[in-house]
Amino acid sequence: MSDTSFTPRVFSGIQPSGGLTLGNYLGAIKRFVDMQNAGDFETVYCMVDLHAITVWQDPAALRHNTRELAAGFIASGISPDKSILINQSQVPEHAQLAWIFNCVARMGWMQRMTQFKDKAGKNTQNVSLGLFGYPALMAADILIYHATHVPVGDDQKQHLELTRDIAIKFNHDFGVDFFPVIEPVIEGAATRVMSLRDGSKKMSKSDPSDASRINMTDDADTIAKKIRKAKTDPDALPSEAKGLEERPEARNLVNIYAALADISVDQVLADHGGAQFGSFKPALAELAVDKLSPISKEMSRLMADQAEIDRILAQGAQQARALTAPILKKTYEIVGMVGA
Ligand code: TYM
Repeated sequence: MSDTSFTPRVFSGIQPSGGLTLGNYLGAIKRFVDMQNAGDFETVYCMVDLHAITVWQDPAALRHNTRELAAGFIASGISPDKSILINQSQVPEHAQLAWIFNCVARMGWMQRMTQFKDKAGKNTQNVSLGLFGYPALMAADILIYHATHVPVGDDQKQHLELTRDIAIKFNHDFGVDFFPVIEPVIEGAATRVMSLRDGSKKMSKSDPSDASRINMTDDADTIAKKIRKAKTDPDALPSEAKGLEERPEARNLVNIYAALADISVDQVLADHGGAQFGSFKPALAELAVDKLSPISKEMSRLMADQAEIDRILAQGAQQARALTAPILKKTYEIVGMVGA
């Protein structure tokens, strides 16, 4: 699509609109850590507080959740020495580019976004304008870094397609080859972790039932209890993945096991095929506690020193702005703004 070669750069973000779930961890953060450590990319990871306020957030809770999310990133293995870790509102170029993209994206594109339709429900006249324009800010988050690769869970696929459309339209409208046409990276066994109570619903921080999700701050007993109570069916586990096709709850637990253990679904079924849930669930609970407890302990330790978290975010913002300021300046020049 583009002749220009861009530095291989990863960008991704998470909303500080509540606690982190196992879905966020397996679908996003764990893969962010892998991409950071692979060393093939520059990596930029972001708490998207401007996205969070597209629906009401209590200011004190937003501050707490933003710092806790930063702690979650670091405790999971994102190193401020290897990645740029930022809070979105501390890098003003995100919002500045978003305005330009509001003028590039079309109403019809936004109206097709399934997440907007889900979140707005029947209430489309009463939701914030920010919720409607949400994907243009998301495109700006990514493209203000000229990022090339964006690891996300499956639910963000449509937003990333829109990011590609915005880049293509901008480049076309202004006759430039300035913004990269990004590659979504939606890979692994856990791109869609489902609710523990209903295998047809995504695990989500906004689900009213706490039993539907594992929170990264849950203690070992709570994690084990939630897995023990997870909805399943009466059959034993199959020995091949095909046998999970019509069994969403069983498939979900197997996917979670595979992602936590860093092995394939086939490998999980080679080891546990034929087992009843009475024995598989305790094995999964043990694995989950083993992997998640050190993270939640480290999160609490980091949260005890908020000044240190704030220092890391201020440093991240400074590093980020060295990348974003020249890209915004060039964008303004292309668009025709005097003084750019
Ligand atoms: P958010 O905050 O809803 O979720 C953050 C990341 O976690 C993934 N995720 C899941 N993955 C698997 N199973 C689940 N149950 C699950 N729940 C959440 C999401 O797919 C996502 O990768 N719009 C984004 C935030 C954002 C962003 C960006 C992402 C803003 N700007 C730029 C990438 C690039 C969001 O609301 O994610």
